[in-house]
Amino acid sequence: GAAVEVDIGDIPAGGMKAVEWRGKPVWILRRTPEMLASLQALAPRLADPGSQRDDLQPALRNVGRSSRPEFLVVIGICTHLGCSPSFTPAGGERPAPDADWPGGFFCPCHGSTFDLAGRVFKNKPAPTNLEVPPHHYLGDARLLIG
Ligand code: FES
Repeated sequence: GAAVEVDIGDIPAGGMKAVEWRGKPVWILRRTPEMLASLQALAPRLADPGSQRDDLQPALRNVGRSSRPEFLVVIGICTHLGCSPSFTPAGGERPAPDADWPGGFFCPCHGSTFDLAGRVFKNKPAPTNLEVPPHHYLGDARLLIG
């Protein structure tokens, strides 16, 4: 399928942009330093914190699953049965799915939760982390997906 070029310069810190690639929603989240700082400590609560089960480009095999730490690029489809999770930042407008919710994505269908790197929490129906599509940066503010 055709690659999709996206202007990411207008995504505010903590904000997200959704685009379509090969008929799938792709989310681009611009993480704040606070969001990034929260990722490392979550490992014990995650099913696959090191993305061992994921088919990731080597450059993306890190805690943030990202080659430019502030940007997360994931396919917005739950890896359980394909529902659409919602972006649920800590302190945001949506109710937090857990009392100690660190922010991330929540799938309303069967309650899977994912962190701000798209990594699935333990003991949830989704078997794997949110998929990261192939992508690279064309410049400071341009992203190519595909
Ligand atoms: Fe998301 Fe089942 S489809 S938890």
